[in-house]
Amino acid sequence: MNIVLGVTGSIACYKACDLANSLTKKGHSVHVVMTEAGAKFVTPLTFMTLTKNKVATDLFDESEPERVEHISLATEADLLVVCPATANFIAKAAHGIADDLLTSVYLAYINKPVIVCPAMNTNMYENQATQENLRILKDRGVTIVEPKVDHLACGTTGKGALADIDTVLNCIESFTA
Ligand SMILES: Cc1cc2nc3c(=O)[nH]c(=O)nc-3n(C[C@H](O)[C@H](O)[C@H](O)COP(=O)(O)O)c2cc1C
Repeated sequence: MNIVLGVTGSIACYKACDLANSLTKKGHSVHVVMTEAGAKFVTPLTFMTLTKNKVATDLFDESEPERVEHISLATEADLLVVCPATANFIAKAAHGIADDLLTSVYLAYINKPVIVCPAMNTNMYENQATQENLRILKDRGVTIVEPKVDHLACGTTGKGALADIDTVLNCIESFTA
């Protein structure tokens, strides 16, 4: 499968490296798209080395004249997975905002499966805005891999930790079988 893996600016980004690695080993072609914030947590070099594919971060980095990168990525993908997904990304996805590469790919990718894996502080997760945004995505057919209760990087314990990578992998496999 041709999988676009969106990586956004969460402390859980390091777990997406394992996900990219596992998917690549399973034979999927993984194309990582990172937000600017995501690239502050893990370098594109890590994902490029793990997936053996170029990592896209910049909407305006149009290095191949025959491609409009965000449209090509969306058109060529069989599955779009955003892991980890920030509250910010979820809000933008819910409201059709396309102000960077990942959200532009997201908007251009229609009628195909999408998996979103939220990861954030408990208050951010429980905030009515985030809950309403998640509801919008669910109602549009997006599969949400629920975050789990855990000790969070901010020092508190509560719901918001990225689901286990095995749970995310199982969810992805349900679309690839
Ligand atoms: C140390 C640190 C950890 C963060 N972790 C998260 C997180 O787990 N989830 C989240 O929604 N935002 C988190 N943020 C805030 C996001 O990085 C911020 O909202 C950013 O604008 C997200 O941009 P993006 O959605 O384009 O990646 C964190 C910020 C910092 C500085």
